[in-house]
Amino acid sequence: MTGRYHETDPMSDVISDDYRMLQMISRFGITLGFGDQTVAETCTKAGVNTATFLTVVNFLTDTNHAHINEMVERIDLPTLLRYLENSHTYFIEYRLPAIRRRLIQAIDMRSQIAMLIIKFYDEYVAEVTRHMQFENAHVHPYVSALLQGHMGQQRISEITGQHEGSHTSIDRSLTELKNIIIKYYPSDQNAALLSDVLMDIYMMEEDFLNHCHMEDTLFTQCVRLLEEEVATSARSPEEEMPLEEGGNTGASKKEQEETLSEREREVIRLVAMGLSNKEIADRMFIAVNTVMTHRRNISRKLDIHAAAGLTIYAIVNGIINVEDVKL
Ligand SMILES: [Fe+2]
Ligand SMILES: [Fe+2]
Repeated sequence: MTGRYHETDPMSDVISDDYRMLQMISRFGITLGFGDQTVAETCTKAGVNTATFLTVVNFLTDTNHAHINEMVERIDLPTLLRYLENSHTYFIEYRLPAIRRRLIQAIDMRSQIAMLIIKFYDEYVAEVTRHMQFENAHVHPYVSALLQGHMGQQRISEITGQHEGSHTSIDRSLTELKNIIIKYYPSDQNAALLSDVLMDIYMMEEDFLNHCHMEDTLFTQCVRLLEEEVATSARSPEEEMPLEEGGNTGASKKEQEETLSEREREVIRLVAMGLSNKEIADRMFIAVNTVMTHRRNISRKLDIHAAAGLTIYAIVNGIINVEDVKL
């Protein structure tokens, strides 16, 4: 088998080489205390498909995925499906709430900016949760049915295309949050605590990106193969499957902050006051489409998209008085 780890390697090596594999192992339902057992022995004892376990470990520890097609062939899809579901549970029920608790400890909740940071974080959590719940409710049941030989109306690429928040947009939200904390939050008292939370956020981001990358490549390719098998066995006409999607490569290049026009500053001020696009249009005597164009240009210039982020920017840059902000 290609890859860094093999069946006969001691399981403890996997963790001592890369501590991040601790999370991966627990998502497979493997507990610590495996002594000198090999990877194969530990997996067999835990009832985990060894080839899938090794493929995931090698996928995560070696970023050069030159052998992705070989990897896909070794995957036992039900095992990978359980792994992804456990990852969702981990993010939603443990990781995201734990970071929120630590964030509250690290920032001064009496300050308006701190409250906006929490609001921003909560919006991010809601976006991730909606995304993962969609996968639990639509993508995974589709694959389970496919494993039973039932082909639905839509293919995996069409189902994942209906996602409310894409992997790229979720990651962009987290990047914005990190930037807002780094650039605008004055960490005078709890600087060490805040740096710790930021480290946690960076680690969670890496974990989340790995999860997304696995879904976009390993998982999706496995499902496409299965779709072809099911379609062939059902003797349905052969369909051309779409080529690999662009993934994260379409992410726009960050541009330097440009100067805001007076109209754009006014739009930011009204957004911070909690007005809708329609209300802003009425207030400024312009069309809603024009407001949307202003908002797109503002987001491009500042690299801030969420209303909570724009509000923080408006306070910090004196565009609005704190008392006029709508929380
Ligand atoms: Fe997912
Ligand atoms: Fe996803």
